[in-house]
Amino acid sequence: MADLKTTFVGLSLRSPVIVGASPISRRIENIQAVEEAGAGAVVIYSLFQEQIEIETRDVDEALSVGSETFPEALTYFPKLQHAGPKEHVMWIEKTRKRVSIPLIGSLNAYSVGNWVNYAKQLESAGCDALELNLYAVQTDPQKTSSAVEEEALAVISSVKNAVNVPVVVKLSPFYTALANFARRAVEAGADGFVLFNRFYQPVVDVETESLSTKIIYSSPNERHLPARWIAILSAQLEVDLGASTGVHSGKDAAAYILAGAKTVQTASCILQRGVEVVKRINSELADWMDSKGYESVEHFRGKLDSKSVSDPFAFERAHYIKALLS
Ligand SMILES: Cc1cc2nc3c(=O)[nH]c(=O)nc-3n(C[C@H](O)[C@H](O)[C@H](O)COP(=O)(O)O)c2cc1C
Repeated sequence: MADLKTTFVGLSLRSPVIVGASPISRRIENIQAVEEAGAGAVVIYSLFQEQIEIETRDVDEALSVGSETFPEALTYFPKLQHAGPKEHVMWIEKTRKRVSIPLIGSLNAYSVGNWVNYAKQLESAGCDALELNLYAVQTDPQKTSSAVEEEALAVISSVKNAVNVPVVVKLSPFYTALANFARRAVEAGADGFVLFNRFYQPVVDVETESLSTKIIYSSPNERHLPARWIAILSAQLEVDLGASTGVHSGKDAAAYILAGAKTVQTASCILQRGVEVVKRINSELADWMDSKGYESVEHFRGKLDSKSVSDPFAFERAHYIKALLS
């Protein structure tokens, strides 16, 4: 029988299947259920920089005179004032006492600030690692890509300097030079990466002629872009890579591991079908490994990364031309 044990940024996991940051982790019962179903770890839903900044300011002042410095947060995140970061930390402390699988805290941030102290608090609350989601929409035409990258690297090093647990960066595919950014992120202190963050766009509703916010769940077809970059970075970097997006079956998990991932996160599939899917993905992965004669995850991990495939250009422009001409 295939052994699903693996490691990720120094954590020992009984399975590479990790529950991604999402509302699944808002209930302790869910975390207990995915632990029972065999998940390797759980990423707790994010603590947002805006939540912390709203709390650390005098809210009254921010709502009146200071609001022009903070307009987006105050307009679009009114609910965040009621979901305070202190409650988030206390909730993790409580969860930590009830489950024994590794818990990964998630910080969703875009610039350096005092909020970094919360990285330390997540660690003290019992998080075994931190995942840093650097989501930002860069709309300023005066801001250069190097300024954007410097800012992101500063966030990584400030979080890394604040904690002793491993820091994992949840990457976006929208960097001009992703391989270069990833290398510099390692220099800034990233212990590993998760590829990729998945974005939700405002939806234009033609009936009401307004914008709405809609969560559209992923499909397995979306795994090809993260898998391509995992295959590329796996050959370049010494740090661990985890996959996120489109894991709905054991074969999706196997595909990512073949590309070089040490772990695979799943969120959409659990939100759609319930926590039991963790058990199914684990058993499908184990069955697939048995059918191929693989005894462990390391036995086949990276077999299709960019240094191991027979065609050295398989992940580069040549593949695009080949696909279009075929
Ligand atoms: C409802 C919902 C809430 C999410 N919340 C977070 C979050 O708090 N922080 C975060 O980094 N990612 C969040 N994500 C993104 C997931 O962690 C994951 O990266 C993404 O959904 C792709 O994985 P999937 O294809 O398995 O859904 C959320 C996703 C969904 C669907």
